[in-house]
Amino acid sequence: MIELRDVTKTFPRAQGEDFRAVDGVSLTVERGSVFGIVGHSGAGKSTLLRLINYLETPTSGSVLVDGRDLGTLGERQRRAVRRSIGMVFQQFNLFRSRTVLGNVRYPLGQSGLSRAEARERAEEALRFVGLEQQARRYPEQLSGGQRQRVGIARALATSPGVLLCDEATSALDPQTTQEVLALLRRVNSELGVTIVLITHEMDVVRSLCDSVAVMADGKVVESGGVYDVFSRPRHPTTESFVRSALHDRPDGPALDRLRARHDGRLVTVPVSGDAAGGHELSRLLREHAVDFTIAHAGVAEVQDRPLGSVTLELRGTDADVDAVLDRLSGLEKAGTR
Ligand SMILES: Nc1ncnc2c1ncn2[C@@H]1O[C@H](COP(=O)(O)OP(=O)(O)OP(=O)(O)O)[C@@H](O)[C@H]1O
Ligand SMILES: [Mg+2]
Repeated sequence: MIELRDVTKTFPRAQGEDFRAVDGVSLTVERGSVFGIVGHSGAGKSTLLRLINYLETPTSGSVLVDGRDLGTLGERQRRAVRRSIGMVFQQFNLFRSRTVLGNVRYPLGQSGLSRAEARERAEEALRFVGLEQQARRYPEQLSGGQRQRVGIARALATSPGVLLCDEATSALDPQTTQEVLALLRRVNSELGVTIVLITHEMDVVRSLCDSVAVMADGKVVESGGVYDVFSRPRHPTTESFVRSALHDRPDGPALDRLRARHDGRLVTVPVSGDAAGGHELSRLLREHAVDFTIAHAGVAEVQDRPLGSVTLELRGTDADVDAVLDRLSGLEKAGTR
């Protein structure tokens, strides 16, 4: 659906060299999928998203939407492609002086629809997001979650094939975030809209996305299916984001407190969708007559499969515990998780 080929975007700097906000990015977003982009502030995420609908023009490289290279299209055709791409923002970007219905109808202004048709479309979009009762109210009379649902309805009014979301839930509380995520899930599953979303929260990626790209310094440093990236993070940025979503490994002061509470040896073992790993562990513990208690655990569901780790306190003779740890590290090295 969307393909970026070696795309670079540079901005001029007052002194010295131009600044590469996006640096040689290639990626593919499959039709009908939900694609997440994560990375620290300033990594180039928003710039990358704005390149997809040509709000930013690439300095080099090409952007293809539905097989059409936006760089080779005329202005009219490019506008048509742009209309097929909706956008949702962190701060909602609604007109304060227009009603909810007026906001949702706004992008249909130059669409060639009659007033009645435009109204019908806008009402339909409002029904989809569950706000048809609020059509005559003004944005400031709504809660943050409702405003974002208006923002989503506005983006859907033109029946786009793609929805770009820049931190759509970052200004919302956790409960409201979940409601907006559930709505985006319906936009994807019921309307078949391809979604590209930027988020700071790996939890959003975990619960909504099929694929994810991790950005650092303008580059995509890692990308792939969410489960694969979560279970085998390779880049330090990915590692820290994944840990923040799984909360599965005690470290720093939390680890010190665990050590103070538990006399036995602590070992952290991964938990994955692969049941064989769990059987292997219990067999090892039985064979060596090593007992355990759970000291810490964090297991989340990622793409319908469990992922995380448990930290166990092992108790037994030193020789037996050593034997178990030896075997466990052997299994890790052999790639059995
Ligand atoms: N129009 C512009 N002119 C000059 N520099 C820009 C422009 N837009 C973005 N930049 C710079 O490019 C870099 C990447 O910005 P971008 O907004 O894409 O980051 P981001 O990953 O979205 O960050 P955040 O998480 O804070 O939103 C930043 O250093 C920013 O200052
Ligand atoms: Mg941004």
